[in-house]
Amino acid sequence: MRKVTVVGAGKYGSMTAARVAALDIVDEVVMTDIVEGLPQGLALDMNESRPIEKYRTLVVGTNDYKDTADSDVVVITAGLPRKPGMSRMDLLEVNAKIVKQVTEQIMEYSPDTILVVVTNPLDHMTTLAQEVSGLPHSKVMGQAGMLDSARFAHFVSEKAHVDVLDVEALTLGSHGPTMVPVPSQCRVAGKPLSDVLSPEEIEEIVERTRGGGAEIVALLKTGSAYFAPSSAAAHMVNAILQDTKEVLPVSAWVSGEYGITDVYLGVPAKLGRGGVEQIVELDLTDSELEALREAAVAVKAKIDDLHSLTL
Ligand code: LAC
Repeated sequence: MRKVTVVGAGKYGSMTAARVAALDIVDEVVMTDIVEGLPQGLALDMNESRPIEKYRTLVVGTNDYKDTADSDVVVITAGLPRKPGMSRMDLLEVNAKIVKQVTEQIMEYSPDTILVVVTNPLDHMTTLAQEVSGLPHSKVMGQAGMLDSARFAHFVSEKAHVDVLDVEALTLGSHGPTMVPVPSQCRVAGKPLSDVLSPEEIEEIVERTRGGGAEIVALLKTGSAYFAPSSAAAHMVNAILQDTKEVLPVSAWVSGEYGITDVYLGVPAKLGRGGVEQIVELDLTDSELEALREAAVAVKAKIDDLHSLTL
């Protein structure tokens, strides 16, 4: 039986469960949460949409980790979202406690799984999940770059008045202030971004992309984005389980590529049944490469903070 577990039945978790179920690529999506009744009620609602949407995958809502046994992929969404004015890093301690507990329980029942972490601060929670799980680095990754790249593409399409599907955009680095949108790799209907927008317009979009999550948090006031984030997480699950070998920007363990060592960071990675199967080294400009290296230094500094916490 093919099975995906989503930990957390909040908005991000439930939307991810629904999106993965609708792909119809697994027998079961297990959605677990500590709140009694919540995952069960949402699962029932999702299952009732199957005759209309025409897919077979069953969603199982549960409060018991036993039901997650033998999952092929586990998406960890558990943790608190930001409130207006907070940075993702403000969640470090509270979410580290949650991610540690969740990872321990997942590993008890699915010792060979692949973990996709989405809890913030993203690169740090991905690091923690790998350390706690003891899984090879290739089997633990974080979702951020796909989301940030999608935001970048959306902003380009609006600014340049072009079809969003004609825009290819890429964002690397951390899922935070040292995010590295990569204009040199952007294409609009095959043309370089610099042919379509002015340097000032590109800079404006780069800044808006960096603050893309905070922009939505400020509008929502209670909670953070989940439509585009769950699209990205479900797409990663699909790439892994369908062994597509797509190169997607994800938070992956970098060990030497781009001259960066031993850190989880947003880089282009080939995803397949083995998890992260290869980190792809693109031809970045000097300033983009420098920004990526700065992002690595910034993530590492906060990993030291993470290690000093008593969890
Ligand atoms: C965001 C959160 C999910 O960027 O990190 O919206």
